[in-house]
Amino acid sequence: MALFNRVSEQEIDLTQGKIPQHIAIIMDGNGRWAKKRMMPRIYGHKKGVDALRDVIRACDELQVAYLTVFAFSSENWRRPADEVSFLMGLFLQVLDSEIERMQRNNIRLKIIGRRDQFSAELVQLIELAEQKTANNTGLCLTIAADYGGHWDVMQATQAMLRDQPGLLAGFAETDLQPYLSMAYAPDPDLFIRTGGEQRISNFLLWQLAYTELYFTDLAWPEFGREQLHQSIAWFQQRERRFGRISEQLSDSSC
Ligand code: IPE
Ligand code: IPE
Ligand code: MG
Repeated sequence: MALFNRVSEQEIDLTQGKIPQHIAIIMDGNGRWAKKRMMPRIYGHKKGVDALRDVIRACDELQVAYLTVFAFSSENWRRPADEVSFLMGLFLQVLDSEIERMQRNNIRLKIIGRRDQFSAELVQLIELAEQKTANNTGLCLTIAADYGGHWDVMQATQAMLRDQPGLLAGFAETDLQPYLSMAYAPDPDLFIRTGGEQRISNFLLWQLAYTELYFTDLAWPEFGREQLHQSIAWFQQRERRFGRISEQLSDSSC
């Protein structure tokens, strides 16, 4: 009966504005979402994988060029051992089962972060997944795992000085940039954090300098295509000034 049918949501019109080229997401709130449903935290992580699949598909449809998601921070090792080990297992399992789908969908996969604390099996699978998808030309999906913004700037500085010891006397941002983990991508245009917290939690510190920051109370398992569209509609209302004033933005000479 029509009366009981849920009125389908109005599609949000995103065609009038710019689609962000690079979206970065802190997928937070899995544990609390599960707890609220009297389920173990790991149930939330499992549901989080479904949400990620939805968001990847939605980004692909919109021809977003880069999607970067925070899966495990350098500080997440501090969690109870059984949760950490579940998350490592889930990462391994999802990588293994999704490689074929990524191939089919022309997705290029990149993993950023430290690898020296991962199992040999996981490192091998990461390398395989990156190699297999390296020549794909569609969405570039980056998963940040054992990643920290502080670590990124530190490792970049060390690598730069190892390559060019002469720079010890002084260097510019453009010297450092190529050594940062995300050197292959433009800085994120839109940052999304689910789960209600309004912080960066050591995610892409350098790269978020001029990113538009969108926070939602929805938990990550509740986020999907429609919520992504809402965040992009919000993004399209922002005026990005990069230090200038409004009047300069329409002036093509600047
Ligand atoms: C994000 O959800 C996933 C990871 C950090 C791996 P949380 O596990 O942080 O969930 P909450 O924030 O405790 O609800
Ligand atoms: C950030 O979430 C890291 C990931 C989503 C992977 P956290 O849940 O670890 O962040 P804090 O500890 O609440 O800042
Ligand atoms: Mg959290």
